Amino acid sequence: NYGKSYSPCNRMYRRQFLGCLAVAASAPLVSQCARRPIVNRVSSQDGLLELSLTAQAERQTLAGQRSRVLAYNGQVPGPLLEARAGDTVRLTLINQLETPTNLHYHGLHLSPETDNVFREVAPGERYTYEFQIPSNHPAVTAWYHPHYHLDVARQVFGGLAGPIIIRGDLDEIPELQQADETLLLLQDFEPTRQPAEPSSLGKKWGREGSSLLASGQHNPVITMPQNGLLRLRLINASASRIYQLQLQNHPWFLIATDRGAISAPTPLETLRLSPGERADLLIAGQQAPGDYRLISLPYDRGMSDMVSSLGTAVEQMSGVVQPVETTLATLRYQSGTYAEPLPLPQKLISVEPLPAPDHTREFVLNHGIGGGMNGFIINGKSFDMNRVDTKVKLNQVEDWQIVNQASIDHPFHLHTNRFQVIERNGQPETLLSWKDTVSIKGYETVTIRVRFEDFVGRTVYHCHILDHEDQGMMGILEIS
Ligand code: C2O
Ligand code: CU
Ligand code: CU
Repeated sequence: NYGKSYSPCNRMYRRQFLGCLAVAASAPLVSQCARRPIVNRVSSQDGLLELSLTAQAERQTLAGQRSRVLAYNGQVPGPLLEARAGDTVRLTLINQLETPTNLHYHGLHLSPETDNVFREVAPGERYTYEFQIPSNHPAVTAWYHPHYHLDVARQVFGGLAGPIIIRGDLDEIPELQQADETLLLLQDFEPTRQPAEPSSLGKKWGREGSSLLASGQHNPVITMPQNGLLRLRLINASASRIYQLQLQNHPWFLIATDRGAISAPTPLETLRLSPGERADLLIAGQQAPGDYRLISLPYDRGMSDMVSSLGTAVEQMSGVVQPVETTLATLRYQSGTYAEPLPLPQKLISVEPLPAPDHTREFVLNHGIGGGMNGFIINGKSFDMNRVDTKVKLNQVEDWQIVNQASIDHPFHLHTNRFQVIERNGQPETLLSWKDTVSIKGYETVTIRVRFEDFVGRTVYHCHILDHEDQGMMGILEIS
């Protein structure tokens, strides 16, 4: 009876039992308990990653609060899947939910036929996804989550999400091989025994929860390794929440974005992470013993404009939470001496700019007719499963100018192919990187450049505020 009767402590132990036995055995369990951000890891062996994932509703104590959640294999987040470029994945999804579901591999370059978001796995049924990760796949931090249209926000908000690590080029950098690694999958949820659907205004806004979790815990402690080099992967798996992140009083450096490495470590101040986005960071240094907090700053994704246009008091909108500063995790330097920190790598993997586009198109994001709040639309249309919105040719390069005509943020996500951000509000983007999701603030215009590589078929693009996707802010792209 997996997942019914254990405390957070047992739960942690269970995770360690499969993923971190050495840690559990060599240190007193109590001090490990509910402290370290540990997720159960399933790694490929001899080129094969094989597992089953059971999606199920259950009651769990998450960060000390008894709640009803949706979990994969009894865990929130689901197990960490780790494979190498070229490996085969054989994953059986078992649906023990009361509603249909499916899986999307967000951040993997797979054919639309393999990563088919129109697949339906009915309650009580199972489906085996089997595919090969392309052997030239870059090293990435990716994730999996359900993509069953009209119910995506509820399922992901309920807890269904898990991390994926693909090992490859970036992992060969000698300096990185010496770094300790930690992954934090960020989720928010509303602790409740009986989950209620948000109000219709809450759905327009995009549901948020008052409780923030980093890999299933409140404020886990990450111990700085003695060699002073820590690699931290972050995934925003929240349904709607945009994180504005800072590591207080400590330098940190970006080394990879959604779809792989950047050319060189780049110092950061604040890191904005929209739903769906990932960041890979190096935390390097030699600070005084003590705690350094990873915080999420209040971020306004356009609520005041939305509220004033609706004339509604925010407090009445269930599923809407006022942003406050929150500590997501703590980086701890223990007392004792730290060695000279290891040097940062000078170079990572060079990012070649895509060539000039063969074709340019525009995508206008808005709400209903005349900017009203009835439905979420792209180029005047709400999503239709039976309509192809955009046709492109294999191997062509296109510039997509995405115009947000609404007052609130809409993070734009493209499936299958990675892209480069070229321009934001007419200003050239300074950091060249590979992305699959880009944040677009209210009234902003962002240009992305994409080459349609390797795969033909029908795939999608959409807003990654999942309530917006469910309410129509999605389109079908046909590559031929
Ligand atoms: Cu992470 Cu189409 O989504
Ligand atoms: Cu995706
Ligand atoms: Cu949106």
